[in-house]
Amino acid sequence: MRHVLDMKDFSKEEVERLVERALQLKKMRQRPKALRGKFLATAFFEPSTRTKLSFQRAAKELGMKVIDFITEISSLRKGETDLDTLLTLEAMEINAIVVRTRKNEAPKYFAQHLSVPVINGGDGTNEHPTQAFLDLTTLYEHFAKLDLRVAIVGDILHSRVARSLVEGLNKFGANVRLCGPEEFVPKTFPGVELIAHDLREAVKDVDAIYTLRIQKERLEQVFDNVEEFFIEYQINEEILKAAPSHAVIMHPGPINRNVEISDEVAYSKRSLILNQVKNGVYARMAVLEEALRLDETVRSLEESMA
Ligand code: CP
Repeated sequence: MRHVLDMKDFSKEEVERLVERALQLKKMRQRPKALRGKFLATAFFEPSTRTKLSFQRAAKELGMKVIDFITEISSLRKGETDLDTLLTLEAMEINAIVVRTRKNEAPKYFAQHLSVPVINGGDGTNEHPTQAFLDLTTLYEHFAKLDLRVAIVGDILHSRVARSLVEGLNKFGANVRLCGPEEFVPKTFPGVELIAHDLREAVKDVDAIYTLRIQKERLEQVFDNVEEFFIEYQINEEILKAAPSHAVIMHPGPINRNVEISDEVAYSKRSLILNQVKNGVYARMAVLEEALRLDETVRSLEESMA
């Protein structure tokens, strides 16, 4: 078994393998139910649509059964801790757990106490590794390479998605630049040379523009009309005139229409946003296989089906 906690725990070769596996699973007409009979628990202590549901979809596609822990109607409300909740789920003989937490590094802490694989579905402002796997899968599917120029735009300061994506892209020698309002972009960022505040300059030679929403739930400072900080950083038709015509638009979701991305761009021909969602299922199938270390079982099942 393997915990899936941070992108930095994965080598370039391992990321490549997962991306290739995700795309292989996507192409298969019949997928092996190699994890049949196993149980996945999804325990999201913060809201989610894409990550939780795509893990559930991925698990079912591999033959797993899913237990969905719903925080709002659980014994958390009676004072049970997150860790005690997960130990309780583990005692019900589940085989893997996907967790999302408000606190940075909480999945790492849980992994030290659990004997089943813990998969990080996003922890505070730290990391969102499976988002990075699906983003890299989507970029590789589109460009057939990952040494790309990518501008990540918006609220970088509070973004776990940006941290995991930069970590992933850097393994492939990509050129990543960050851009957003001064209040929302750190002065330095590990693995990034260019931190820009001029959006036209940041996108002028890119292959992909990756835009992020304002993480209002993580703001420590109270801002009146925080959206005003982002007016100059909205990805819209006008800004796209400053980018190369082949540049694609990405966003991890959920989008805030006409804040960080305009209505006309969100689902335009240049947008890969729904491809990201779709690839999320395949990337998470590959992650589940990896976490449960069933590569060999899967391969032999595929061979017997061929
Ligand atoms: N991108 C992402 O993590 O979306 P959800 O919050 O809907 O899971």
